[in-house]
Amino acid sequence: MVWQRPDGRQPYELRPISFHAGFTRFAPGSVLTKFGDTQILCTVSVSEGVPKFLAGTGKGWLTSEYRMLPSSTQERQPRELLKLSGRTQEIQRLIGRSLRAAIDFEALGERTLTVDADVLQADAGTRTAAITGGFVALAHAVGQLLHSGVLERSPLCGQVAAISVGLLQGEPYLDLNYIEDVGAAVDFNVVMNQNLGIIEIQGTAEEGSYSRTQLNQLLDFAEKGIQQLLIAQREAIAGWEHLLVGE
Ligand code: CDP
Repeated sequence: MVWQRPDGRQPYELRPISFHAGFTRFAPGSVLTKFGDTQILCTVSVSEGVPKFLAGTGKGWLTSEYRMLPSSTQERQPRELLKLSGRTQEIQRLIGRSLRAAIDFEALGERTLTVDADVLQADAGTRTAAITGGFVALAHAVGQLLHSGVLERSPLCGQVAAISVGLLQGEPYLDLNYIEDVGAAVDFNVVMNQNLGIIEIQGTAEEGSYSRTQLNQLLDFAEKGIQQLLIAQREAIAGWEHLLVGE
C-alpha cells in the first residue's frame, strides 16, 4: 500500500514556503515563516556582552529560545508546561547549534545574538522551520544592524537551512505535516549549509528500525528539499547577499 499524502503533494515536494521579513518592528530581525500550516515568528535581537566562558576572548555568541504558543496546537497547552518541557529545551538547543554555523564570532565581537522562535501554529516540522526562518531573520537583523551602525562588518559566514523527512509505508516523504508525522515510522530532521554540508541529523525510528539504504534515500530527499530552501532564503534576502562574507 502506498501512502497518499493528505494534501496531494508528491513524495519529494515541500509544502508552500514563505518568509515575511519585517513582520514586527522592534527587533532588528523579524521574519514570519510558513511551511504550509506551520507558522513561526523568528526574531533576532542583539545585546552587548557574552556568556562568562567567552568574556575577554573577543568572540561573540548566538543563543536561541523556542516556544509554542498555548493555542498553536489543536488542544490548548498551558504556558508553564510548554516552557519547562524537555522537548522545548531540546529544540531550542538544536536551533542555537544550527544557526551558530552561520556566524563568524570574531566578526561579531563580544555581542550576543538571541534568536526567538515562537510557534504560532504547529503542523509539524516546527524545529526545521524555525532554523530555516531563523537564518532569514539573522540576515535581516545583520542588514539592519549594519545600517544603524551597531555592527561594522557582517558576521554572516554561511547559510543554514533545515527540513524534516520521514518513512511512511517504508517509503521516504519530504516535509511531513502533522498527520504524516504521527503516521511516520521513521522521523528525520536534517540541517545543512549552503554547500549541502551536514550540520546536524536527528533520525529516530518510532517503530522498528531503518536500513542504510533507507537512510540514504531519506538524506537524498532532505538534500533536494534543502536545495529549494536555500534558494527561497536567498530570494527572501534579495539585495542582502553581500552580507554573506566571502561572496
Ligand atoms: O514540530 P516538530 O516536528 O519539530 O517536533 P515534534 O516534537 O516532532 O512534533 C511534531 C508536531 O506534533 C508538532 O509540530 C505539533 O504539531 C505536534 N505537537 C503537539 O501538538 N503538541 C506537543 N506538545 C508537541 C508536538
